[in-house]
Amino acid sequence: MKQRCIKIARSSFFCASVLIISALVLCVGLVKTVRAEEIVCIPCHSGLPEKFSAPVKLWQKSIHAENGIACNACHGGDPKDAANAMSPARGFLGVPKPADIPAFCGRCHVGVLKNFLASAHGRALGKGGPTCVTCHGNHRVLKVTLDLINEKTCSQCHTFERARKIRDAMAQTEARIVAIDNRISEFKKTGTDTEIVEKQLFSLRNGLHSLSHVLEETKLTAASTQIDADLTKIESSLNDLTSIHKIRKIAGVIVVSAMLMTALLLHLMRKTY
Ligand code: HEC
Ligand code: HEC
Ligand code: HEC
Ligand code: HEC
Ligand code: HEC
Repeated sequence: MKQRCIKIARSSFFCASVLIISALVLCVGLVKTVRAEEIVCIPCHSGLPEKFSAPVKLWQKSIHAENGIACNACHGGDPKDAANAMSPARGFLGVPKPADIPAFCGRCHVGVLKNFLASAHGRALGKGGPTCVTCHGNHRVLKVTLDLINEKTCSQCHTFERARKIRDAMAQTEARIVAIDNRISEFKKTGTDTEIVEKQLFSLRNGLHSLSHVLEETKLTAASTQIDADLTKIESSLNDLTSIHKIRKIAGVIVVSAMLMTALLLHLMRKTY
C-alpha cells in the first residue's frame, strides 16, 4: 500500500513536471513569435518599393539579424507602434550622413570607434576617407575575416600596397589562430575539456581583429608578435593534452593485453589440470 502511494506520488510529480516544462517551452515560443511581429518596421518596409525594402532583405542575412539587432537598434524609432514608428519624438534618427556613420555604429562598437577615429582613416573623415559602411556594408554586415582587406575595396582611394602591408602583418597570426581553432575542435570531438584554451584563443582573436582599424604597420607588427607568443603558450598546452592522450592510449593497450594474457593463462591451466 505504502509503495503504491509512493508510486502514484512519483508519477504525479513526473506528470506535473512535464506539464510545467511544456508550459514554459510554449511561453518561450510565444514570446519569440510575438517579438518578431512586434518590430513593425519589417512587415511595412517589406511591402515598399525597392529603395526602402532592399534593406530588409540585406539585413536578414547579417550578423546583426543573427544577434537580434533590428532596424530600430540602429535607426531608432518605435518598433511597436506602426503609426508613430518613424516619429522623431519616439527617437527616430533617420538616415545618417556619411560623416556621422562612425558615431552611429560606434554607439555599440565603442572600442572600434576609438581606434578608427585615431587612425589615418578617422582623420580623413568627411574629407574623402572611408566610413564603416565602405568596408562592412550598411545592412548586410557579416562576421569579419581578413578577406575584408582586398584589392577591390582598398584600392578605391590609394594603392593596394599600403593595405597589403596591413594584411601581411596580420595574416600569419590569423592563420595560426585558425589552425589552433581547428585543433581545439578535434579535441572537443574526443570529449576533452577545452574551455580554458578556447577562452584564451577567443580573447587573442578579438585583440588581433580590433587592431585592424589602427592601420599602423609598426603597432600591428608589435601586437602580432605579442599575440604570437601567447599562441605558442596555447599550442604547448595543446601538445600536453596530446601527450596525455597518448599515455592514456598506451596504458589502455597495456591493460587490455594483460587481461588477455591472464585469460589465456587461466584457459591453459584449466585445460592442463
Ligand atoms: C507603416 C509603414 C512603415 C513603418 C511601420 C516603418 N516605416 Fe520606415 N518608411 C516608410 C516609408 C513609406 C518610407 C519612405 C518615405 C519616407 O521617408 O517617409 C520610409 C522610410 C524609412 C527610412 C528612410 C528615411 C529617409 O530619410 O530616407 C528609414 C531609415 C526607415 N524608414 C526606418 C524605419 C524604422 C527603423 C522603422 C521601425 C522603427 C520603420 N521605418 C517603420 C514606411 C514605414
Ligand atoms: C547596423 C545598423 C543598421 C541596421 C540594423 C539597419 N540599418 Fe538601415 N541604414 C544604416 C545605415 C548606416 C544607413 C546609411 C547607409 C549609407 O549611407 O550607406 C542606412 C540606410 C537605410 C535606408 C535608406 C536607404 C537609402 O538608399 O537611402 C533605409 C530605408 C533603411 N536604412 C532602412 C532599414 C530597415 C527597414 C532596417 C531593418 C530591416 C534597417 N535599415 C536596419 C544602418 C542600419
Ligand atoms: C545597437 C548596437 C549595434 C549597432 C548600432 C551596430 N552594431 Fe555591429 N554588432 C552588434 C552586435 C551585438 C554584434 C554581434 C556580436 C559581436 O560580434 O560583437 C555586432 C557585430 C558586428 C560585426 C561583426 C563582428 C565580428 O566579430 O565579426 C561588424 C563588422 C559590425 N557589427 C559592424 C557594424 C557597423 C558597420 C555598424 C553601423 C552601420 C554597426 N555594426 C552597428 C551591435 C551593433
Ligand atoms: C574611401 C577611400 C578609402 C578607402 C576605400 C580605403 N582608404 Fe586607406 N586611406 C584613405 C585616406 C584618405 C587615407 C589618409 C590619407 C593618405 O595617407 O593618403 C588613407 C590611409 C591609409 C593607410 C596609411 C595609414 C598611415 O598612418 O599612414 C593605410 C595603411 C590604409 N589607408 C589602409 C587601407 C585599407 C587596408 C583599406 C581597405 C580595407 C583602405 N585603406 C581603404 C582612404 C581610403
Ligand atoms: C578600411 C576598411 C574598414 C573601415 C573603414 C572599418 N572597418 Fe571594421 N574591420 C575592417 C577589417 C579589415 C576588420 C578585421 C578583419 C580581420 O581582422 O579579420 C574589421 C573588423 C571589425 C570588427 C570586428 C573586430 C572587433 O574589434 O570587434 C567590427 C565590430 C568592426 N570592424 C566594425 C567597424 C565599425 C563600427 C567601423 C566604423 C567606426 C569600422 N569597422 C570601420 C575594415 C574596416
